[in-house]
Amino acid sequence: MKIKKAVIPVAGKGTRFLPATKQIPKEMIPIINKPMIHYAVEEAILSGIEELVFVTSTGKTAIEDYFDRNLELENFLLKNGKEDYANLIKDIGTKIEIITVRQKEQLGLGHAINCAKHIIKDDAFAVILGDDLVLSEVPVTKQLMETSQANGGSSVIGVMEVPPSQTNKYGIIDGTLLKDSSKTYKMSKMIEKPEPEVAPTNLATPGRYILKQEIFEFLDKIPRGVGGEYQLTDAINMMAETNTVLAHVFDGDRFDTGSVNGYLNATVQFALRDPSLRETMLEICKRGIEEHG
Ligand code: G1P
Repeated sequence: MKIKKAVIPVAGKGTRFLPATKQIPKEMIPIINKPMIHYAVEEAILSGIEELVFVTSTGKTAIEDYFDRNLELENFLLKNGKEDYANLIKDIGTKIEIITVRQKEQLGLGHAINCAKHIIKDDAFAVILGDDLVLSEVPVTKQLMETSQANGGSSVIGVMEVPPSQTNKYGIIDGTLLKDSSKTYKMSKMIEKPEPEVAPTNLATPGRYILKQEIFEFLDKIPRGVGGEYQLTDAINMMAETNTVLAHVFDGDRFDTGSVNGYLNATVQFALRDPSLRETMLEICKRGIEEHG
């Protein structure tokens, strides 16, 4: 069955980006000329998602406004002969239906996803965490949808290899490769941020999931986990005891924009991959090394 809905949690406080996030949602901080959240929504659209559920909190209305139309600005641009810009600002909001629900208390990712329960009536849905951006030929969510479809519509977690010292930053999976596959695992368990000594593998999720509707049963059952929060990882782990859950090593380059260092790296790398900015960025880097390196 076609997956049409995705949940994007955007309720976090963005403390790592203070003071900017005192007034601006972290998701609205731009990489080049598009807010970070734009890239996650683009991924959803290119994966065939038709309806997006933003799980928001107080102070996040700029995100809703960004994906709405701004007729006044569109008309102003058109009147001034700037049709390209008018199309640019109109485009993204017209390609997808957006619904918002509020997470009234910040009780963790599992709790955030559970806030969308009454909207997701579908058999399966996608979850996209906007802190991690993935550049790939086929959008990563689409890769996971295809893996799910090829395997009877199972839940699928997107995973990538990380250096063993970094397992305590991610949900880590354990499992065995499916017969005839070098990339898709049948997951036996998932652990939230294990220390390297106890991590079963170095296969980490950067926040891309295809989840069957059943996940909500388990989100209702889990106790508070790591950090005192309701963890999506714990619900997935519980679900894997009775349901098939796969983990798929996706193709693509992933950028962690949740930290200032990762954000800086993403900005430089995105510019280097943009033909209209590549030369400028190379020149800036070269001059920077000559003068300050
Ligand atoms: C969340 C998830 C974790 C996942 C990570 C990806 O953690 O709980 O399993 O690996 O996102 O960014 P957070 O970074 O919100 O603490």
